[in-house]
Amino acid sequence: MPAQLLDGIALSKKLRAEIAARGAIATAKGLRPGLAVIIVGENQASQVYVRNKVKACEDVGFHSVLERYSENLGEEELLARIATLNADPAIHGILVQLPLPQQILPNRVLEAIAPEKDVDGFHVANAGALMTGAPEFKPCTPYGCMKLLESIEYPIRGARAVVVGASNIVGKPMAMLLLQSGATVTICNSKTRDLAHHTKDADILIVATGKPKMITGDMIKTGAVVIDVGINRLPDGKLCGDVDFDTAKYVAGWITPVPGGVGPMTITMLLMNTLEAAEKSAKTT
Ligand code: GUN
Repeated sequence: MPAQLLDGIALSKKLRAEIAARGAIATAKGLRPGLAVIIVGENQASQVYVRNKVKACEDVGFHSVLERYSENLGEEELLARIATLNADPAIHGILVQLPLPQQILPNRVLEAIAPEKDVDGFHVANAGALMTGAPEFKPCTPYGCMKLLESIEYPIRGARAVVVGASNIVGKPMAMLLLQSGATVTICNSKTRDLAHHTKDADILIVATGKPKMITGDMIKTGAVVIDVGINRLPDGKLCGDVDFDTAKYVAGWITPVPGGVGPMTITMLLMNTLEAAEKSAKTT
C-alpha cells in the first residue's frame, strides 16, 4: 500500500493562520514582527528562497526587508550592515542567506547577529543552547520536520531515528531535537559505510544530503516515516528530493513530497521564530 503523504503545504497553512493571529496581537501592542533578509550574490536557488521568505512575511502581516548585495561585497561592509540591523527596533529577526561568497567567512557573519535576533538559530550561543536542551531558536528546517512528526502524533520516544547528512543547518540540529524527544539517533555522513544498513533500521528517516534520489525504496524499513529535506533540480528542469519518491512510497508508512513537504515548513518555522523574537523583545525592553 502506498505511503500516506506528510503534507507540508496543508500543515503550513494551518500554522501560518495561527502565526498571523498572534502577529496581529503583537502588532496591536506596537510590536509588529519584523524580519530582515540579506542575500549576497546571484545564486539562483537562494534568490528564490529569499523571495519566498519575504513574501511569506507579507502574507502573515509582518514587516520585512530584503537587502540584496553584489557578489563582491566585503565582509566588513556586511558586518556593518548587521550591526545596524541589530540596533533597529523594527527588526526582530535577521537572516543572512547561505551560502555566502568565498571572501566572506560565514561563521564571522553568523556570530555578528545578535543572538536574540538570530531566527535561523545558527549563532553559536543558540546552537549551544539547543545542545544543552534549552533552545531559544530552533533552526527552521529541523523545527519544521519536528512539526511534521507532531502533526501525525508520531511516538518519537524510544523510536530509532536516522539522520542522513550532518550539516550545521539541518543534520546536527535535527539529531539534537530528535534526541531531546527521546529517539535513539544515528547520524550518517558522506563517509558512512553500508549506509543502507543504517537507513533500513530507521523508524524515522530524515534525509538531507543534497544528492538527488540517493535513498531508494530498498533502503527503507517498511512503515517508516521518511522526511526528505532535499530539493534538487534535474537536467529536465523538474524538482526532486534526496529520496527516490517513486520507489520509497511503496515501502514507507509516511513520506514527504518534494516539493510541498519540508520546504514550506522551513519558511513557516522562520515566521514562528520571528514572531517569538518580537514577543520576547517586549519582555526585555
Ligand atoms: N541556506 C539553506 N538553508 C538555509 C537556511 O535555513 N537559512 C539560511 N540563512 N540559509 C540557508
